[in-house]
Amino acid sequence: MGPGLQDESVVSNKIAGGRSFENAFAAVRDATGLNVEYEVASGRRIRRVYLDSAATTLRLDLVQHVLNKFQPHYSNTHSLVHFGAQISTREYQWAHEMVLSFVGADPDQYFCFFTGSGATSGLNRVARALSRKRCERAVVITTVMEHHSNDLPHRAHFPRVIHVPALKSGRSLGCVDLAQLERALEHNSDSVNYVALSGVSNVTGIVNPIYEAATIAHRYGAMIVVDAAQMAAHLPIFMSRQGHTDASIDVIVFSGHKVYAPGSPGVVVARKELFSETPPQEVGGGMVDAVWIDRYAVSERFPDREEAGTPNITGAIGLAAVLYTFQAIGMEAIANEEQGLLRYALKKLLRVPGIIIYGETDTRICQRAGTIAFNIRDMDHALVAVLLNDYFNIAVRNECFCAHPYVRELIMASLSEDADVLDNEALEKLADKQRGMVRASFGIYTTEEDIDALIEALDDISLRRDFYAAKYGRLADGSYSSREFTFDHSKVFSIKNEIDRLLCGKI
Ligand SMILES: Cc1ncc(COP(=O)(O)O)c(C=O)c1O
Repeated sequence: MGPGLQDESVVSNKIAGGRSFENAFAAVRDATGLNVEYEVASGRRIRRVYLDSAATTLRLDLVQHVLNKFQPHYSNTHSLVHFGAQISTREYQWAHEMVLSFVGADPDQYFCFFTGSGATSGLNRVARALSRKRCERAVVITTVMEHHSNDLPHRAHFPRVIHVPALKSGRSLGCVDLAQLERALEHNSDSVNYVALSGVSNVTGIVNPIYEAATIAHRYGAMIVVDAAQMAAHLPIFMSRQGHTDASIDVIVFSGHKVYAPGSPGVVVARKELFSETPPQEVGGGMVDAVWIDRYAVSERFPDREEAGTPNITGAIGLAAVLYTFQAIGMEAIANEEQGLLRYALKKLLRVPGIIIYGETDTRICQRAGTIAFNIRDMDHALVAVLLNDYFNIAVRNECFCAHPYVRELIMASLSEDADVLDNEALEKLADKQRGMVRASFGIYTTEEDIDALIEALDDISLRRDFYAAKYGRLADGSYSSREFTFDHSKVFSIKNEIDRLLCGKI
């Protein structure tokens, strides 16, 4: 059993198991956009099935409710002088406390700060801060499984980044290879600054053993930074595994827009000592105690010293509302619901004619969260994705999901199944030519009916591929365009049209 997951029978939360959980779960999973309808290629208007939550989750209605209540009081933070400022400042402060509580972080040891644009900005901040703080250690170890946002920031700030491979089980790839991780640490002992590891892959949903990796990293004096962008909304995540102080995480990064909140505040939870004594990277209002014309005094207070400027107040408050709710109904129980749905989806998907699912699909061997990347044999991922949209109103994502090296590795591993005769160079060429896949990813609102709709659509696409292919032309950028069907987005929504309608006859 992977990080934090518990047996259904030992779910411990404020809303103790059974009916009350079911009621609470049903009450929180409504989201804006679940019932949106679009006209598809057949001319029918049908409900959209949203299977793109790994990119961005829909906004939960409970968030919208909290924000509607908050909006009348909305004002800038960093002041307690007027009533609105008191409400905004106090609630923004509480959002920090909520994040720490959600990940079980001791406020004496850890602090939390919000950053500009999602987990990416958080990971950039962490890479830069640790490259300065522990400058004698110039190596970062990450894995081939990472999103570019948990790879390129380390490359940008360190002279050397090592990519540890994923475990191979048969011809499928699983989680990070811990033996190889340890070997890389051994070979570079005393020079590894930190290990940067995703908690859950954004491509395959494969869950990494973050606490085991933490123990190994600490044995060599390295820190561990966990990219929890795909984990925070799907599995319980704690800074420390209970009773194991060596297995504690030094930094966790995630982002509000993947946790059902509006906007995209990045969230960093870090040990205070990693950010103390080195000058903050971003300077301006809010992070100083005093400024003179020739110098300034940086605040010693956390998180103030890391939050220059006016923060994403609404995003942070929306995020805190979700975390509070999830904590109240129990992350273990939420995760167990998703695991049930995942098993349902994998079982049915594996029966679709010609399907290739990437990464180990046996969840007893390799734990996964609700993200599945696949292809239909001999069909271009871009065509499958556009057909799912145009004919079935199923929203998925395709291509490489900002994880080029990992997608390439997964394709290579799956090609080696068919191509025993090819040497490595030929295999690499083939993998480059076929690089890309389709990804279906779940949120708390995803249902078995949504999965059934996907399966039905894929069955149809796989069986009638020639019929569909004849209706599409391939464009220079690799995408496909229907010869018969066009979607004019501005007929559904455009900012300009909305404002013009509002102002009609008034100016
Ligand atoms: C695993 C992972 N890490 C980092 C990121 C970057 O997150 P953001 O878009 O919030 O910057 C993503 C985004 O998809 C992701 O899936």
